Amino acid sequence: MSDKHTSQKPLNVLIMAAGLGTRMKSNRAKVLHELGGSPLIAHVTRAAQALDPRRIIVVVGHQAEEVEKAALAEVGELASFVVQAKQRGTGDAVESARSVLENSDSLVLVLSGDVPMIKIETLRNLIEHHNNAGAACTVLSVRLENPTGYGRVIRDESGAFQKIVEQRDATDDERQVKEINSGIYCFESRDLYKGLRGVEPKNDQGEYYLTDVAEIIVRNGGGVAVYLHNEPREVYGINSRAELAEFENLIRRTAIRKLMTESGVTFIDPSHAYISAEAQIGRDTIIHPNVTIEGKTIIGEGCVIRSGARITNSRLGDRITVKDHSVIVDSQIDSNCSVGPFAHLRMNAVLEEKATVGNFVEVKKSRLKRGTKAMHLTYLGDATIGERTNIGAGTVTCNYDGVNKHETIIEDDVKVGSDTMLVAPVRVGARSVTGAGSVVTKDVPPDSLVVGVPAEVKKKLK
Ligand code: UD1
Ligand code: CA
Repeated sequence: MSDKHTSQKPLNVLIMAAGLGTRMKSNRAKVLHELGGSPLIAHVTRAAQALDPRRIIVVVGHQAEEVEKAALAEVGELASFVVQAKQRGTGDAVESARSVLENSDSLVLVLSGDVPMIKIETLRNLIEHHNNAGAACTVLSVRLENPTGYGRVIRDESGAFQKIVEQRDATDDERQVKEINSGIYCFESRDLYKGLRGVEPKNDQGEYYLTDVAEIIVRNGGGVAVYLHNEPREVYGINSRAELAEFENLIRRTAIRKLMTESGVTFIDPSHAYISAEAQIGRDTIIHPNVTIEGKTIIGEGCVIRSGARITNSRLGDRITVKDHSVIVDSQIDSNCSVGPFAHLRMNAVLEEKATVGNFVEVKKSRLKRGTKAMHLTYLGDATIGERTNIGAGTVTCNYDGVNKHETIIEDDVKVGSDTMLVAPVRVGARSVTGAGSVVTKDVPPDSLVVGVPAEVKKKLK
C-alpha cells in the first residue's frame, strides 16, 4: 500500500453479500456459487485481505451462515458480519453496518460480493485516487461497449460527476452513456452514513440505492470523484449462470496460457482442458483433451496425462503416466509410476516410485511401496504393501466388517494370487505366495505358500 494511504485514515472494507441473486435462478445465494473452485465471496474477501484493512465487514442475508463460513475460511477472524434480514437494496445493505462504521472515522471501501475478478492493484489505485482527490466518495467506473444492465455514470458538461442512474430508471439519453458504475466505491465513513439518511426508495425497484448517496453528497456540496479504470473485465458483475460460465472459461484459459508460456506444458487441445488456476505443472508434461485438474494439484515434469483423467488436490512426481479415465483425489504419486486406465486413487493413496496401478483398480488410504504392481480389477483399502510385490487380478482387501475398518499389511516381494480375498486385519509375510482364489483370514508367515478357503499354509518355500 502506498505511504500516502497508510498515513491517512484507517481502511475498513464492507462487502455487500446479502442478496439471493434472482437472475441466477438458484436456491443457493449467488455469492456461494463457485468460480475457479472457490465461492464468489471468497474471491472478494481474498482481495480485501490483501489491502491489509483494519476490518472486513460482510453484509449477509441469504444463507448467512454458509456465506459467513466461506468468508471465515478465506480470511479468518479479520472478517466480521452484519445481518441484513430483508434485502431492500444496496443502500440498505450498507445501512446495516451503520453502528459499526458510522463513527469509525475511516475510509470505507465498498465491494460487491458478486464482482469477483477485481484486482488488488486496482483497489489500491482507487484508494490512492480517492486520497489524492480529497473526495468524500470515489466511484470506480469503466467504459463498456455494451453497458446494458449496469448503472450509468452521469457527468455534467464539464465532466464532473453528477449521479448514477440504474438502467431501468434511465432516460433514453442516459442509456447511451457507456461509462458504468462498477459497484465499487471509496467513502469517508461519516459522509457515507450522513448521505444514507437521505436515500429514499424512489425508483423503479422501490429499493434503497447506495448509488444515491453519491448524488446526495454532490447536492450537499461535497466532492465525488470518479476513478475510470481501463480494464472492464475486472469489474464485471456476475448476475447469471451464463456470466458465471463465461468467467470460468476466462479463468481457465488464462491458467492454461500461463502453463504453456511460462511452465512449458503441452496441451493437445487447450480448449478442452479444465485446469485450476492454483495447479502447478512441470515442463514437458503433456495434457491430453478432456483432462480435469482441480484444486492445489502439483504435477512434475515429463508426465503424460491421458484423456478423461481427473486429478484433484494431489501431488504427482516426474515422468508419470496417467492413462485414460483415471480419478486421483487427495493422493500422492511418486516419480516413474503408471496409473490406469480406469483407476481410482483416493483418500491419501500413495504410490512410491515405479509402482503401477492398472485397469479397474481402486486404491483407498493405502501405500504401495517401490516397484509394486496391482495391474487389474483390484480393491486395496487401508493397506500397506511392501516393495516389488505383485497383486494378482481380482484381489480384494476385505477391510470392512460392517462396523469397523481394518488394516491389511503385505510385506516385500509377495505374490498375491488372482482373486485372493484378504480378510483384514491380516498380514502377509515377505516373499510369501497366495494361491488363486485363496481367502486369507489369518496372518501368513514369511516364505510360505497358502491356498484354499480359508487359506492354510501348504508348504514353506524356504
Ligand atoms: C449495482 C449498482 C449498479 C452497478 C452494479 C455493478 C446499485 C443500486 N446499483 O447493481 O449501479 O452498475 O451494481 O455490478 O447499487 N446486496 C445486498 N443487499 C441488498 C441488495 C444487494 O447485500 O439489499 C448485494 C448483492 O448480494 C450483491 C451486491 O449487493 O452482491 C450488488 O447487488 P445487485 O442487486 O447485484 O446490484 P446490481 O443490480 O448489479
Ligand atoms: Ca450485480
